[in-house]
This record gives sequence, structure tokens and C-alpha cells, in this order.
Amino acid sequence: MTSINPVADYSVEGEVAIVTINSPPVNALSQGVREGLKLGVEKAEADPAVAATVILCAGRTFIAGADITEFGKPHAAPYLPDVLDAIENAKKPVVAAIHGTSLGGGFEVALTAHYRIAVPSARFGLPEIKLGLIPGAGGTQRLPRLVGPERALDVILSGTPFGARDAKDWGVVDALAEEGKLREDAIAFARRLVADKAPLNKVRDRDEKLAPARGKPEIFEAIRKANARKFRGFEAWEKAILSVKNAVELPFDQGIAEERAMFMALLGSTQSKAQRHLFFAERAAAKIADIGAETPTKPIHRVGVIGAGTMGGGIAMNFLSAGIPVTLVETSKEALDRGVAIIRRNYENTAKKGRMTLEQVVERMERLSLTLDFRALAEADLVIEAVYENMDLKKLIFEKLDGVAKPGAILASNTSYLDVDAIAATTKRPEDVLGMHFFSPANVMRLLEIVRGAKTSKSVLATVAALAPKIGKVGVTVGVCHGFVGNRMLAERQREAGKLILEGATPWAVDRVLADFGLPMGPFAMSDLAGLDIGWSAETSKGATIRDILCEEGRRGQKTGAGFYDYDEQRNAKPSAHVEAIIRAFAAAKGVAQREISDAEILERCIYPLINEGAKILEEGKAQRASDIDVVWVMGYGWPVYRGGPMFYADTVGLKTVLERLKDFQATFGDEFKPAALLEKLAAEGGTFSKA
Ligand code: 3HC
Repeated sequence: MTSINPVADYSVEGEVAIVTINSPPVNALSQGVREGLKLGVEKAEADPAVAATVILCAGRTFIAGADITEFGKPHAAPYLPDVLDAIENAKKPVVAAIHGTSLGGGFEVALTAHYRIAVPSARFGLPEIKLGLIPGAGGTQRLPRLVGPERALDVILSGTPFGARDAKDWGVVDALAEEGKLREDAIAFARRLVADKAPLNKVRDRDEKLAPARGKPEIFEAIRKANARKFRGFEAWEKAILSVKNAVELPFDQGIAEERAMFMALLGSTQSKAQRHLFFAERAAAKIADIGAETPTKPIHRVGVIGAGTMGGGIAMNFLSAGIPVTLVETSKEALDRGVAIIRRNYENTAKKGRMTLEQVVERMERLSLTLDFRALAEADLVIEAVYENMDLKKLIFEKLDGVAKPGAILASNTSYLDVDAIAATTKRPEDVLGMHFFSPANVMRLLEIVRGAKTSKSVLATVAALAPKIGKVGVTVGVCHGFVGNRMLAERQREAGKLILEGATPWAVDRVLADFGLPMGPFAMSDLAGLDIGWSAETSKGATIRDILCEEGRRGQKTGAGFYDYDEQRNAKPSAHVEAIIRAFAAAKGVAQREISDAEILERCIYPLINEGAKILEEGKAQRASDIDVVWVMGYGWPVYRGGPMFYADTVGLKTVLERLKDFQATFGDEFKPAALLEKLAAEGGTFSKA
């Protein structure tokens, strides 16, 4: 074996050259890997003893794509297209031998090889869309030639990998190797190619899957139409469709050139920068400054959940789905029955959609134990309290839990606002207590705020942080403060939205501006959906707020056919002149003058105070890093991924601009807009939150 460079080796077995890439963790296409591939193939071409070449990867995976850390920096030769040309134009057959994940540029490398062999566990995909990009090294041109434009677009637009068996059925790979025997099988495969004098198959020359789609633009129109909602706001989707259409309509070289141009343009776009930022932000969130691999974690074999309401049921489902048994505790049989029926119905609906088998539903339900006896929680390694937001009730529960839970069990509260330290103080083991704030619907939303109390032990925190990905969550560690990261920032937006409608903006204008920005819905549509009467009571209502007035009139949101909006039978929303009149009268009674309010002011007043609160959270150390706040907002509140989260968005707007607008608003409206010291400092230094 000879070394080509620090990340690539060359060896020859019989008449087969093996170019091995070894660049942990994922063999991304860094300069060294690109060079290793090119030099390796060229060496094999020049070696008279060699008749075929195998490209193989060491470690856990085949090449998982371009090296994302190199994006946006000056690139050194050889460039990927030149590497691919060297492979595709080789005069001796090149075989890509694939295990792990062959993604993005890695899959594109494989598609330029003349043959592909993979182990059954290998996965293939073009996830560039998730980074705000399109495949930029032939993926949009070669994959359609193998699987047809529709299936190729399925792969490219979803960014979701597919397995080796599908790859074999679809003609993406030529052979399956035995698991664990990829090297031997790939060499044997290459030898057979030589013996059979097999042709140098070039995907670029194939046309049989493209021809039927030629001259049929309606294929692409249908895909656009079917996904219009999903594509809203994203730049890359349309380019992906266009590029695959090019594959059908244009000669290969022209299609490739156009693909490269679109890829390069997207690479420089703010959207792609935002999505790349989130890729690394999600991974950074898992890292906690003072916790390392040496911190011991506790085994979690059984989880207890207190409360079978919407949250409790959703929380339980996460563990049941991950194979961890759950004991669900309630105070009445009716509540327990209602809760379990919802869990079962949710699973059955998933099964109806074909995303789960009925056996899997049964398996999950069998992991669930139901009880009215609090003492049953003694078996649990982790207990999560999910009752409604009332401090006295939570304190009572934790006091009781302290007497029941086994020593060393982790005691968590799903509170979304309350002081976790005060809850912990009711127990004799505050080091075992922390917050686990799930987001509704808890079985779907990927965010988990892990609230670290003043006395939470490192081992308890490390255990819950490690548990998060096992139940499909992205855990973000936050400190104790009212509303933690997400709801504390949200409160700023809600306050301004409420003020804006008194000052003359309609609820529909506020909602429209925020929806156009890319949020799933505005605050008033959201209130109507959730129900205006959450936390409201007819007995104590005094018409002191617009919400009070609407609820008193029976306008309690979508469920009553009216709230801020009027709703028809299909729950389509229509602006209400009656509500506008209520707001006008309320503003007049309060002495608030109404005026025209621009869309720009609506956006800035809703978003900038939220960012400012994020800066205060950072200052106070309630979040570890600005990117954690971005993860919270993208995963928990539907912040558009192409805007990268509120702190990244502030960086793209420019911190000076954000600061100046906050100061303007402070002068006009008061100190709720007072800029955070950190924002002042960064703006003065020309800094950004991302690099703070
Ligand atoms: N470039 C640089 N670093 C990468 C990387 C990449 N393409 N893919 C993963 N990494 C890094 C991660 O940041 C992480 O680093 P850390 O340990 O310092 O946090 C480490 O590799 C391990 O990654 P994961 O924690 O994600 O490991 P998993 O085993 O869970 O997942 C994976 C492995 C499925 C390969 C996943 O990392 C992944 O999806 N990677 C991105 C793949 C991708 O998007 N490829 C396309 C890139 S764009 C492209 O190829 C353009 C082309 O068309 C020209």
C-alpha cells in the first residue's frame, strides 16, 4: 500500500487498483480527498499492471458530500468537476464501492464511476436542498438519466436518502455486496468486469429514462403545483426543478454547465448560508461546555409521565416509539382513558398513512402501563411531570414524587415558564431535578428545551442531553428564567402584536406580514387556533383586554367558528369587520390614537424586540451560544430555515440597523425597546451574534 496523500492510499491486488479514502469523520470532499481521488485514478490509469479501479472509503461511511466547512472560503484545486471528469473519462473501468451514506457530492462521485456496488445497509441521497442548494456536481443531470426525472426530483426535493435495495431495484447500483465484505466483493466484481471486457458505462450517455419525458413540461408543472406550499419562500426548489428539466431538454454538457452556475449562485445566497448555519448549529447544540465524554450518564429503562393530557400523552409517545416503557399516571380513570385513546388514535392514524404497521402500533401500546397509583412511579428512572401550569400544583407533585421516586431517579418538569429551581427546592434532591420543555404536539415537534437548574447535577444533565436524540429530539440546554429561551422571546413579539392592533394595524395585516416573512402563521391566527379561552375564565373576566371582550362574546377561536377572524364550516378564516370595530372602540376608550402602520414597521416591531431579548438571554448566560437560540426558534416555533433563526437573521440585517431601529422605537414607545448591552457592544465593534 502506498500513500497518495494524508487522506488517500493506493494499493493493487492482482489487476485491480484500490483507491482508499480515509478522512474521518465522514470522508467529506475536502481538498485532500479530491486530490486523493484524482491522483489515485490517474495512477491506476498509468499503471500497466492495473486493469480496473475500485474507489473505497475507510471508516464509517462512503463520502458524505462536499466539505461544508470549505463553503464560502477560497477553494483549492483540484476542483470537484475535474475530479469527476478524471473518473468518468478513465479508460479502465472504475467501480465505486459504497457503505454507510453516499450523500451529495459523494453520491455524485459514485454516479461518475462506471459501476457501483454497495452493501445492503448503504444509503444514497442528494440532501443539498436542506442546505439551500441544488446538487452541484452532476446530481441533477446524472440521477434523472438512471431513474427518470420524476423519481430524481423526489430524491432531490425531499433530500431524504434511500436504501441500497431501492438503489438496486432502480438501477442506481449494479450489484449488492455482502455486509462486511465490501472490499473483497468489490475487487471480485471489478475482476469480472475485466474478464468480461465489460463496457465503460457512462451515466451521461444514457437516455432511455429521459426520452419519455421530453417535450412534456406538464410533468414539472405538476410537481411545482403539488408542492407549492412546501416550497414557499425557498429559492433552491425552483432551481432544482429547472435543472432536472434541463437534464431532459438540453445536451449533457450544457445541462451540467447550467447546474454548476445555479449551484454557485445559491452557494453565495443568504438562504444557503442560513441553512448551512443551522446544520452546524444543530450539532453544536448537543455540546455542553462543562460536560464531556467523561461525565457519567444514568441508564433509562423506564419513564414515568404524570398527566395524560395533550402534552403528557405526546411526551409518552416519544418514549414508547423509541422502545422505552412508560408508566402513565393520572388522578381519574376518565382522564387516563381519554389520554390513552388519543395516543392509540395518533398511532393508528400514522399506520393508516402507511408510516407504521399495525404490529408496531400494538408493540408501542404494550409498552404503556396505566395507573392511578402514584407509587407506581417508584420503578421509573426518569419521571416527567406534565400537568397544567400552576406552581402550587407542581410543587405539591414534586414533594410527593420525592417520597416515591427511587434514589437517583431523574425528576423533570415539562413547565414552559415556571421557576425550575423553586420546583426543585420542594425536594430533598434538587440535583436530580431539571426541566424538560417539550413543544406541542410533543410527539412531532423536534425541539426539547433542557432546563438546567442551579443545582442540577452534571450527570443528570448529560443523561437527558444524550436521551434527546434517542427520542428524535434536538435538545438545547437553557438556564432558568421566565419562559426560558423560546417563550421568553415570544412574549416580546406577542406584546408588540397586541399593541400594534390598538395603534391601527389590523390583526390580518400583522398575521400577513409575519406569514410573508416565512413563519407558519401570525399571532392572531395562532391564538384562534389554540383557543382564545386558554387561561381565561368567564367568572373573572372584566372586559379588560380585547381577548376578554372576544371571549365574553363567545368568540373563542376556530372551535367556536369565530375569534379574531370569522370561520366558515371548513375553518377558512375571513377578516371580521366586527372585530375591527371592537378594537377601534377599545383603543378609543384607552386613548390610543390609531394611524396607518407600514408593513416594515409591523415586521420590525414584532421581530427586533424578540432579537433584543435573545441578546439579553445570551448576556445572562441563559443560552450557551446564539446558534442555540436559532435552533430553538427553527425547531420549536417554525422560524423559516432559510432565515437561519432570529440571531442569524439579525446578523444578516446588520446589528447596527437593528440597534438603530430599537433606539428609534425606544424614543417613541418606551423602554421595552431598550437595547441589550451585548447588542450595543457587538454593533459598535462591527461584530455578529454568530461570531460573538
Ligand atoms: N462537511 C463537513 N463536515 C461534515 C459533513 C460535511 N459534508 N457532514 C458531516 N460533517 C461533520 C459534522 O459537522 C460532525 O462534526 P462534529 O462531530 O464536529 O460535530 C461530524 O461530521 C459527524 O456528523 P454527524 O454528527 O451529523 O454524524 P451522523 O453519523 O449523525 O451523520 C451524516 C452522518 C449522515 C453524513 C450527516 O453528517 C450528514 O447528513 N451530513 C451532511 C451531508 C450533506 O449534506 N452532504 C451534502 C453536502 S453539499 C454537497 O455535497 C454539494 C455537492 O452537490 C457539490
